[in-house]
Amino acid sequence: MKSYEQLLLSNKAWAQERKEMNPDFFKNLATEQRPRFLWIGCSDSRVPANEITDTEPGEIFVHRNVANMVVHTDLNMLSVLQYAVEVLEVEHVMVVGHYGCGGVKAAMNTQNLGLINKWLRNIKEVYRQHRDDIDVIDDENKRSDKLVEYNVIEQVYNLAKTSIIQKAWAKHNRPVVHGWVYGMADGLIKELVTMDHNDELDPIFRFDFDDLD
Ligand code: CO
Repeated sequence: MKSYEQLLLSNKAWAQERKEMNPDFFKNLATEQRPRFLWIGCSDSRVPANEITDTEPGEIFVHRNVANMVVHTDLNMLSVLQYAVEVLEVEHVMVVGHYGCGGVKAAMNTQNLGLINKWLRNIKEVYRQHRDDIDVIDDENKRSDKLVEYNVIEQVYNLAKTSIIQKAWAKHNRPVVHGWVYGMADGLIKELVTMDHNDELDPIFRFDFDDLD
């Protein structure tokens, strides 16, 4: 059997098992989704949102990209964010980085990697801002893990700088935005930062809204 065929076979067994546990499982899920969380995580196969939070289908709206970035020209991320905040009305948005992130490690390198240079460039900017704190660390892995943390915090700020989040804060006092980091060595998530509608943002990034209806 080919490896991809195994996936299809496992899917059949999983669907059967779910139906046996709850005959209405798929019927209920098919009608609507009301997730309370938006997860912006890394594409890394070792950091699956539902599995590490022990959540079920329907509980978390997920967007993943290389190194869990919030880039303001990324229409994919912005579309997910707008839909999650304005239509699904999620209560929490979490940016979830992870130690040992290959994207962050690559950004600390000067090797030319082609197209992905343009993506990693955003992480290099975070490194440039915190270089003094990072470069004093001797161990190479600990250095990149420090940048993983700074990067998560910066992406939380990037979320707060979007008009989508600011408008939702002004109108509904939600969502709460979290910065988390996942440790692949112990399976645990650490909280790094939390921002909500009470937090002050540098005035230059604050939008005026005339139409809040
Ligand atoms: Co990663």
